[in-house]
Amino acid sequence: MSNPTLELTEAQIAVHWKEEDYLYAIPEFIAQANLKDPSVSKRFSLDNFPQCFDEYAELLTWFRKWDKTLDSSNPPFWKWFTGGTLNASYNCIDRHLKTHKGKAAFIFVPELESEPTITITYQELYNRVNEVAALLRDFCGLKAGDRVTIHMPLVPELPITMLACARLGVIHSVVFGGFSGVACGQRVADSGSHVLVSMDGYYRSGQPIDHKEKVDIAVTTALAEGQRVDKCLIWRRHEGKYLSNTPMVDERDYFMEDVLANYKGQVVAPVPMPAEAPLFLMYTSGTTAKPKGCQHSTGGYLAYVTGTAKYILDIHQEDIYWCMADIGWITGHSYIVYGPLSLGTTNVMYEGVPTYPDAGRPWRIAERLGVNIFHTAPTAIRMLRKVGPDEPLKYNHQFKLMVTVGEPIEPEVWRWYYNTVGRKEAVIVDTWWQTETGGFLCSTKPALDPMKAGSAGPGVPGIHPVIYDEERNELPPGRAGNICIRNPWPGIFQTIWKDPDRFVKTYYAKYCKDPESKDWRDWPYFAGDGALCAPDGYYRILGRVDDVINVAGHRLGTKELESACLVVGEIAEAAVVPVADDARGRVPEIYVALKPGVTATPAIEKAVVNNLENLIGKIARPKSVRIVPDMPKTRSGKIMRRVLAAISNHLPVGDVTTLANPEVVEQIRVMVQGEDPVVEAKDVGDDIRNFGDEK
Ligand code: PRX
Repeated sequence: MSNPTLELTEAQIAVHWKEEDYLYAIPEFIAQANLKDPSVSKRFSLDNFPQCFDEYAELLTWFRKWDKTLDSSNPPFWKWFTGGTLNASYNCIDRHLKTHKGKAAFIFVPELESEPTITITYQELYNRVNEVAALLRDFCGLKAGDRVTIHMPLVPELPITMLACARLGVIHSVVFGGFSGVACGQRVADSGSHVLVSMDGYYRSGQPIDHKEKVDIAVTTALAEGQRVDKCLIWRRHEGKYLSNTPMVDERDYFMEDVLANYKGQVVAPVPMPAEAPLFLMYTSGTTAKPKGCQHSTGGYLAYVTGTAKYILDIHQEDIYWCMADIGWITGHSYIVYGPLSLGTTNVMYEGVPTYPDAGRPWRIAERLGVNIFHTAPTAIRMLRKVGPDEPLKYNHQFKLMVTVGEPIEPEVWRWYYNTVGRKEAVIVDTWWQTETGGFLCSTKPALDPMKAGSAGPGVPGIHPVIYDEERNELPPGRAGNICIRNPWPGIFQTIWKDPDRFVKTYYAKYCKDPESKDWRDWPYFAGDGALCAPDGYYRILGRVDDVINVAGHRLGTKELESACLVVGEIAEAAVVPVADDARGRVPEIYVALKPGVTATPAIEKAVVNNLENLIGKIARPKSVRIVPDMPKTRSGKIMRRVLAAISNHLPVGDVTTLANPEVVEQIRVMVQGEDPVVEAKDVGDDIRNFGDEK
């Protein structure tokens, strides 16, 4: 098959998109692939919906088999595999013991190379998860349906705690370790957690980081929002050593090891949970300042991540799989913990920074441990390419499959990944999906579809995407619009925790064909991304169409950032815009206007940065803070973020004559770009070009 000859459509010109050539998996890969039967397309066609997904549910062990594949009687609150009961921890651990109890479930690589690698077998994982489950049940009094917030760095105790929750049917809410204590406390409050599990510290770039200090802030923040935390359970990074400077609070803080001593050897029967019982919450950013708690189910979610891990990640029993994501994000939940463990996989887990102590570290780890499936994000790939373009050549690692996820990947970065890291032998899958979607939505099927740099690929089995314009018209190939999914699938989240109206409004209202309809065909899922489909059916993702900035693969809501800025007393107004960045994809730039009579000082700029770090986390650190005389505004008083984004990205500002204060635009432009207008022809992407547009 050769690349179809394409005419240059207006949309392609708009996105400066050049069709890339196809590349094919090597025969050795195809011969061993889990998914090499082309009948998959027919099996998972809409004609066979929803029964096609039974194939994924059958990969699990059920205490009671489901009666109905999909209950769609209350759109868009889909219920998958109703009548069935199962336990996620049983599926990820117990069922592997008979054949694989001595197999490594995790190989933990500490950041410091002087520290030994730790292997945890499935039997050890079973023992540890059971002891923690006993502790959560008997010491904390937790039972099915309760929520627990887990704020931890990337260490094996994190999945151990998650699986202990799952064993009891307790809903875990993992907050990324890099988030601040305030951000954690807000999530504790929203989820209604009485128990917070944290850790004393961890390593970043060789330095110990105090993590426990965030616990006190989180507890205070949660209390201010009306949620009392009764117990904080603190894991320690080193046995018998305490990496934090903050004191333990009597009757509230407990070292896990101390309490666990009372639960040695205890076994807890896995609680059979209904398929539609929530397994976990994962908070993510959206268009308002308040993060959304995405609620994922037990049966549908687990079936979906297991099926996609098998088919798209091509995991086999003998593979050594390494996903470099943090478990605090959805990628880690789905494709470190639940999908791979459910398949009985050996997971490599690395604590630290990919370039520590040098840019050869990932390839050294991969070579030493025999990793053959490697999973990371464009930000890490860009960074490794920049600081060590030839490093992969120095090592003998051998990958059969490599994954990229989280942001669009530039074709030249893709090519380095393919040529230099994968030595033209590894298949690349560019997987497009979201916190909300539980698992992959678009990707090439590794043995069946050729790769195309810069394109995620077609919908994965059972996922049927469609591109709509703003007027709900279906767009033909080559036209950019909003990507939606026509049908429900088992991995889709169930609702926003405590906010079903926002769930319907954000994801379904825009393209719902009839709000009264009980037919799933009338309820396409709106992903919030711009995309276009090529004539070959491959989707190219153009970025967010809402007020979300994708910073190094992490979602930050502009409203969330703006409200953190407004906490600084001197600031009257704040506007946040994305700026294209070679390494991190996008970074936020902050514009603030001061209250009358306040003079601009570097201290105010610093206070803004501190607030962003303290209220959200270091990932929110802006490129710069610009104190402006006034915000460009429409006559109705709306801040024109589009104009600010154009200035920050050296794009033409367009017609500003209709603004209430057009003169301020030039003042701000000079402030940012200097006297001479600097307009760069660089292709920054549609998310920036259209940023701030009224939808
Ligand atoms: O804009 C898309 C981008 O990341 C968003 C989802 O972010 P999050 O919920 O944090 O989940 C990240 C990991 C799945 C999407 O709306 N995105 C994700 N994967 C890709 C991507 N953009 C382009 N290509 C991808 N492969």
